[in-house]
Amino acid sequence: MEPPVALGPARPDWTWPYEGYEPAGERLRESLCALGNGYFATRGALPECDADAVHSPGTYAAGCYDRLESEVAGQRVENEDLVNLPNWLPLRFRTRATDTADDTATPWFTPDTHTPLDHRLRLDLRAGILERTTRYADGAGRHLRVRQLRLVHMGDPHLAALRTELTAEDWSGQLEVESALDGTVANTGVARYRQLAHQHLTHVHTGTAPARDTIWLRCRTSTSDIRVGMAARTTTDGGGATATAHEPGRASILLRLRLERRRTVTVDKCVALHTSRDPAISDPLHAAIDRVGRGPDFETLMRSHHTAWDQLWRACDVDVPGEAGRILRLHLFHLLQTLSPHTADLDVGVPARGLHGEAYRGHVFWDELFVLPFLNLHFPEVSRALLNYRHRRLEQACFAARDAGRAGAMYPWQSGSDGREETQRLHLNPRSERWLPDHSRLQRHVGSAVAYNVWQYGEATGDTEFMHTKGAEMLLEIARFWADAAAWDKARGRYRILGVVGPDEYHDAYPGASRPGIDDNAYTNATAAWVLARALDLLRSLPQPRRRDLFERTELADAELDVWEDVSRRLLVPWHRGLISQFEGYGELTELEWDHYRSAYGDIRRLDRILEAEGDTVNRYQASKQADVLMLGYLFSPRELHRLFRRLGYELDDTIWQHTVDYYLRRTSHGSTLSSLVHAWVLPRVRRADAWRYCQEALAGDIADLQGGTTGEGIHLGAMAGTLDLVQRGLTGLEPRGGTLRLDPVPLPELSRFGLSIRYRGHWGVRLRLTAHQLRITVPASDREPIDVALGDRTVSVPPGETCLLPLPLSHE
Ligand code: BGC
Repeated sequence: MEPPVALGPARPDWTWPYEGYEPAGERLRESLCALGNGYFATRGALPECDADAVHSPGTYAAGCYDRLESEVAGQRVENEDLVNLPNWLPLRFRTRATDTADDTATPWFTPDTHTPLDHRLRLDLRAGILERTTRYADGAGRHLRVRQLRLVHMGDPHLAALRTELTAEDWSGQLEVESALDGTVANTGVARYRQLAHQHLTHVHTGTAPARDTIWLRCRTSTSDIRVGMAARTTTDGGGATATAHEPGRASILLRLRLERRRTVTVDKCVALHTSRDPAISDPLHAAIDRVGRGPDFETLMRSHHTAWDQLWRACDVDVPGEAGRILRLHLFHLLQTLSPHTADLDVGVPARGLHGEAYRGHVFWDELFVLPFLNLHFPEVSRALLNYRHRRLEQACFAARDAGRAGAMYPWQSGSDGREETQRLHLNPRSERWLPDHSRLQRHVGSAVAYNVWQYGEATGDTEFMHTKGAEMLLEIARFWADAAAWDKARGRYRILGVVGPDEYHDAYPGASRPGIDDNAYTNATAAWVLARALDLLRSLPQPRRRDLFERTELADAELDVWEDVSRRLLVPWHRGLISQFEGYGELTELEWDHYRSAYGDIRRLDRILEAEGDTVNRYQASKQADVLMLGYLFSPRELHRLFRRLGYELDDTIWQHTVDYYLRRTSHGSTLSSLVHAWVLPRVRRADAWRYCQEALAGDIADLQGGTTGEGIHLGAMAGTLDLVQRGLTGLEPRGGTLRLDPVPLPELSRFGLSIRYRGHWGVRLRLTAHQLRITVPASDREPIDVALGDRTVSVPPGETCLLPLPLSHE
């Protein structure tokens, strides 16, 4: 009973196996076993199961959003969602009682109706294949073995394929297989959103293509009017009769197969997906039917898919030993499935939950801050495309600022199709079942994240063409917004930014206040000062003709630059007890009785929900959801942070920073996966012995579903990419700056040897290898200029084709 297609030998460090069928864990597996290619992704749902309380199949195309109105808690609200597209997976099977023509079919096999005898999933990261094996028994005790191989093609982003091998273990007889396209789906993947409108697909039509083995489905989204075309070709080596059927919203093809005992029959389903957002097509349905008709057989598809993945793995090799390395590979896999080289051709941003589920409605937050710095050094063209997404929405951000009575660009906290503010007005606390006002849109710091990424991209790539055009335009308008948002406080002799929310979403107002927002969030103000300073640097460095064009077009005058300079030096950073205050007044809030809440509730990550359900509010306490002040240590190297504070007229030495870290660590509940990541980055730098604990938490965030059920609604892309960047930049201290690669490794005894390769300014495959005592850097042969590398006080120039060994300073140990 050897299966016809064998995958390579199971490499434990490259595979994620799941044993047994566990309904309660199904959604988590569906997210972690999702397959995608940057253009679209499909959750790892079982093809024989429809959406219900256990299963949540979903297919999402990057940037494919739709807007619907709903009524909740007596209010009309509008939400834009990443649309769950028609399900291309359905493939179910059932035995027939006898061989005669008038026999009766037994129910379709599903793990919920027939307890599986064996059930296994194996995600093969190297090959990008999800393998599934299940043994079922029908009512007559006849055993059927099912093996499926699934791929979402990394080479041709419009194709996916499902191979099903069916083996009658101890019987011969008839088996029916139904392969379908299902357009009756809705956005029902997140329980909290179910009271909201979720039917995004309309005008669903189906048909059979002239090639009789191909069915098709077309539909459109309700208000964004994106047209979707899907076609599926189903072939088998099992002979037998086939028939197509069309019910409302669903097309299927039925195969009647004759199975011989211990002989394997194969059914292949090849699927093509197009939407009206695609370039170079006439209409999505024609494109899909045409593509699937020309699609090669499964083995050929698998080979070209494998090649495409090989190339990706070579482009961003992260060689970390042990379990950490295995998890990092999974994170890289999901990052590349969400943002791949195909993304470079799309108008999309960084979806916080990947293309893996419906949480946060597929919106784009500030999470790109944790993603782009990694991509810059592997796929700079993808980073550039993601920055272009922001640039195309710069005008919308300027409108938002103007509507708020401000100058410049005010980027939205949550962004979707056109860049308007998509943050929900109300959110549900599932603990109290109350709908509550949502003020998280006051997180104006998202603009600084965009600016930071523009700057980092420029440093990593040296792409002056971008920096002098779109980059400069974004930086200028974001800086302008900050300069205008900063109000001069005569009594304090400082500029202040009032009424915002910082990265810590728990604090959205002062206790008892009538207006939302807090004042002088240290992170917001310090990053605003940084943006202003960088914008000034960039404008000064512009070639004169370009500078003139830009100044004319944006009506920028030198006097405005003088204001920027002043604001960048005199923004207020609040302090209490000699430490940076998260915001003005944080130090006066009540101390939370952490032990009490821990023993009463166990998991207190979502302290906000706990307290609200108790009739209290987290706004009263010195308790943070996630790293806020400490984000400064994530964005800036110690040297740069000291410089930034000095420019603001504050002294921030190592001791103050160390105490600041300790202070907030004790007051953070880590209610976001980004929190442990940022702590994992910051703690090794202040030599805290518990740094590794936070690294482990950051690594386990999704695989162990640490946020209690949220991974089943989509992966946490920022944290996944952030862990990769933790190795790439966090532990190495790698900082591309002014054309030099600066390194400042930090000791983390549990992770002291690793290697990685980067693409840097036209050099492909630059290898870095770090041990506790030395750093080795190898520049592949090419006709490029040598790379300047700085470590401590030493700068060396490494020519192409050479390797350089740099001993680490003793302080590293
Ligand atoms: C975090 C935000 C993050 C968002 C999307 C929230 O829970 O608090 O910082 O941007 O999730 O990942």
